[in-house]
Amino acid sequence: MKKILFILGPNLNMVGLREKNIYGAETAETINEDVRRWASELGFDIEIFQSNGEGEIISKIHSALGGKDGIIINAGAYTHYSYAIRDAIACVPSVPTIEVHMSNVHARDEFRHKTVIGAVCRGQISGFGKFSYRLALEALSDIFESEEEKND
Ligand code: DQA
Repeated sequence: MKKILFILGPNLNMVGLREKNIYGAETAETINEDVRRWASELGFDIEIFQSNGEGEIISKIHSALGGKDGIIINAGAYTHYSYAIRDAIACVPSVPTIEVHMSNVHARDEFRHKTVIGAVCRGQISGFGKFSYRLALEALSDIFESEEEKND
């Protein structure tokens, strides 16, 4: 069973309460329930980790080495300026990492157009609300399938 680490960064515990016009009224807890269900439908074992601290996120990314097969990360605002999180993802190149956003960051403030983690991720998904997370799970599923085909 493939092991997925799903990392949620700062303020993502406040989804459902914060800026509902952007992130919707559904709470982080119920979104996480959906994520757990989608993951199990795809046959994944998922760990969901939320932190408002950069250092904790970095240590969690390091811990994926050897223990996880893929990472999905919504780094929140850190996406736009944390070189330290970027370097942490670069520390674990064997673990495919997908950058995810609920909102379409390119249609928002200019500072959100830039992502410093994008270059070290396999790809980005942005703008589909909680379904961005489902798309990221499907992307990982596809990556694992193509890796298996290569090994056949
Ligand atoms: C976000 C977009 C970021 O710009 C913002 O700082 C967030 C959430 C998203 O999911 O759309 O906290 O990553």
